[in-house]
Amino acid sequence: MAQEEINVALLGFGTVGTGVYKIMQRQRPEMMQKLNTYLNIRSIMVRNPEKHQHKVEDPGILTTSFESILEDPQIDIVVELIGGIEPGYTYIRSAMEAGKSVVTANKDLIAERGGELFQVAEENHVELRFEAAVAGGIPIISPLKNSLAANEIRTVMGIVNGTTNYILSKMTDEGMDYKEALAQATELGYAEADPTADVEGYDAGRKIAILATIAFHSRVTFRDVYTEGITKITAKDISYAKTLGRVIKLIAVANHTPEGIEAKVHPMLLPESHPLSSVSGSYNAVYVNGDAVEDVMFYGRGAGEMPTASAVMGDVFAVARRIKEHSQGSTRDNVYRTIPVKRIENTRSSYFIRMSVEDKPGVLATIASIFGNNSVSIEQVIQKNKIGNDAELVIITSNVKERHIKDALLILESSSVVRKVANMIRVY
Ligand code: HSE
Repeated sequence: MAQEEINVALLGFGTVGTGVYKIMQRQRPEMMQKLNTYLNIRSIMVRNPEKHQHKVEDPGILTTSFESILEDPQIDIVVELIGGIEPGYTYIRSAMEAGKSVVTANKDLIAERGGELFQVAEENHVELRFEAAVAGGIPIISPLKNSLAANEIRTVMGIVNGTTNYILSKMTDEGMDYKEALAQATELGYAEADPTADVEGYDAGRKIAILATIAFHSRVTFRDVYTEGITKITAKDISYAKTLGRVIKLIAVANHTPEGIEAKVHPMLLPESHPLSSVSGSYNAVYVNGDAVEDVMFYGRGAGEMPTASAVMGDVFAVARRIKEHSQGSTRDNVYRTIPVKRIENTRSSYFIRMSVEDKPGVLATIASIFGNNSVSIEQVIQKNKIGNDAELVIITSNVKERHIKDALLILESSSVVRKVANMIRVY
């Protein structure tokens, strides 16, 4: 015999919440076969119920009171879709303390206070799931925790921010400059009114902190992640990248190296043949390398109403199954070791450096010696554009420590032959 309904409460009824409601309705005819029970949305917490009445069959489920949800013993699962640290943290914590499992899409919260929340989940024998917090509709949390659990993960690397990928794709494919592409992203609703978190790499930084924690079983928080956004990328950098057979992408990467974890977000020149190079527009992709599986890549929509709701609902289904099996609380955080996170100065990369220099004999030799004196070896030099009396140089270095590049750039900037170091971008 099927068990009575499992009741769900939504906190927030914006884009993703609306998608969740739609999927609940769509899936109802098959729910019994899939879950051996029905899922029912019993409450939706919103600030202004009148605004949302037209979206639901029974406006009676709309409430402004979190307490009414907390105190309702019939509610088994709370789905938090408000975002931000507070009041999300307090809501999630008190829901779990009241014995309710939680599904959230809140990456800020998981990246900054995930450790505390998992402890509360364990203590209260409830589930805390967050598939939608990273890369929207793409299943990546569950594959890392389950399907790839038998691997020693070495690298997780991805394009996990659709807004910046859209902007860079427009700059690459249509020759737009940064401002024009950002304006278009805003007009189409990809970029928020305040795009800072996306364009400065903070959104991707939170996501890679979450992925690194799961992949390496060691806590990585947003504060540990080096972030650099796309605001300094110009049409010129993109054009040079093309000359080099490369594309510029905002890459979030986490590596487990013998010296520690590297966790960073920054623009990167990728070879055109790299699988992440063909991920364009608002799409996301995450590439994972494990010692047994080798390379795997996950691709799909990183945001949007229905894709993100798909990830939320996958978690709701999983929790519903746990409730049916009376095994709630068996999903562990699985953080069992402490690996130090490396400072950016101690990470290694090859670098693309674009600078304007005096156009006269001996300049290249001076520049080469500054790099050489700082243990940086040069792999390639391009001299293409003349700007008045100056020449523009692009230098690709070999794989070196970031500290050495920074030292070399400081000396170059004060050298009489260098007018300006215009940009420094890491090369894959
Ligand atoms: N703002 C994010 C993006 C989506 O542009 O990909 C939400 O995580």
